[in-house]
Amino acid sequence: PCRFRMTLQSDVVSVSVASLLTKLKHDCATPLPILQQVADAMSAQMRARLALDSPTQLAMIPTYVHNLPTGNEKGLFYALDLGGTNFRVLRVQLGGKQERVIAMEFEQVSIPQHLMFGTSEELFDLISSGLAKFAEKEGDKFHLPPGRTREIGFAFSFPVKQTSMDSGILIRWTKGFAVTGAAGRDVVACLNEALKRQGLDMRVSALVNDAVGTLAGAEYWDNDVLVAVILGTGTNACYVEQINAIPKLQGQVFPSGRMVISTEWGAFSTALPLTEFDEEMDAASNNPAEQIFEKTISGMYLGEIVRRALLRMAQVGGLFGKSVPQKLSIPFTLRTPDLCAMQQDNSDDLQSVGSVLYGRTGVESNLSARKTVLEVCDTVIKRGGRLAGAGIVGILQKMEEDSEGVIFGKRTVVAIEGGLYENYPQYRAYLHDSVTELLGMEKSNNLVIQLSKDGSGMGAALLAASNSMYMHEF
Ligand code: GLC
Repeated sequence: PCRFRMTLQSDVVSVSVASLLTKLKHDCATPLPILQQVADAMSAQMRARLALDSPTQLAMIPTYVHNLPTGNEKGLFYALDLGGTNFRVLRVQLGGKQERVIAMEFEQVSIPQHLMFGTSEELFDLISSGLAKFAEKEGDKFHLPPGRTREIGFAFSFPVKQTSMDSGILIRWTKGFAVTGAAGRDVVACLNEALKRQGLDMRVSALVNDAVGTLAGAEYWDNDVLVAVILGTGTNACYVEQINAIPKLQGQVFPSGRMVISTEWGAFSTALPLTEFDEEMDAASNNPAEQIFEKTISGMYLGEIVRRALLRMAQVGGLFGKSVPQKLSIPFTLRTPDLCAMQQDNSDDLQSVGSVLYGRTGVESNLSARKTVLEVCDTVIKRGGRLAGAGIVGILQKMEEDSEGVIFGKRTVVAIEGGLYENYPQYRAYLHDSVTELLGMEKSNNLVIQLSKDGSGMGAALLAASNSMYMHEF
């Protein structure tokens, strides 16, 4: 391991690890007044941005989804889900109220790193060839009347200015993507062109954000779902809004009187407790000053914040002895699943903590260093989970302010999807604590926060069904 070490520079002022930890905890603290400030700012900005088209802070995007799935959807539909390091293709045979989901199949394809920085054509060609291969394997469990075009729900998890339910312009990339030639373009047109290049007779009939797909998928089984949240690589939330509360849609008529709004809350940045490590990570990112809430609470970034804090403790406090493990200086060497694995270690000698650290960074740690590492993880995870909870309360508060009783006077379900929420028990617990602390026992009694496991792809397929060009033939 010595090969990987640099010795501590003698001119660096030595500070004790304990005092660095105290400062980190102080900077990350989320006592109730801070949570309340975040929730209040979230509600206020939601309201302001419903009146204003602005890509900064909360975009509050009208999704044109004004009818959520009812259970009556019938037929064969495909979905494409692009949002992180993988994309998924899915097909489902829907059988209406009685039979519901007759058959469903999906496949996951990983996106080679270089395509996240390539051209729009390369990315969309990869997706459509993945879809073509998958479509070839459609067996006899699936059925489409002859002469019909196969329809696709496209779950595209980036900020898009929707122009209708089946078109929308990419505002900007997030989550580390930097594909050229797509921002400012209609992503459905990009996909359709790629489908044509593949020679595929398929058509996108719904373009949806992953949060919207999650809401639709959860609503299919439970009519009380009013809010959906993604907590995975990135983060977003959407909810069901009354048309008359959306000034920027003024003059347009939607018979249901409601529409799903995608908040793009990842761009929120008010009242957040931030540290020097957040600032350094943001400055080094490919989207500085953007997506600050996302960078504070979502899976792509939590490991990196911890890495930066540990590096500082190693450099100026000698956390791992006299030298600094070189690999610890490499951005993103510590990932959020690593933090999760370490935090599940209940053993006396924290053996798993030691082996995760060694495996990822080559560092040999003693028990006291491992304890510190766990405290750093807990501090960053606690802030993330609690702030996510405050965001959720901000949305509920806004909805309740507009019409009393609509949220807290009855059963209301918040559906959450994403690996961070699903797989990280401590994060999940902190999120729930924060919601209960903010709302109090009485209000949180009727509130159900639940994991949605179907994936946003299923919701996208359902929305493709409700927006199908053959709808009148059902
Ligand atoms: C990012 C995207 C957003 C998406 C979220 C979760 O914040 O901008 O559109 O919903 O990640 O995947």
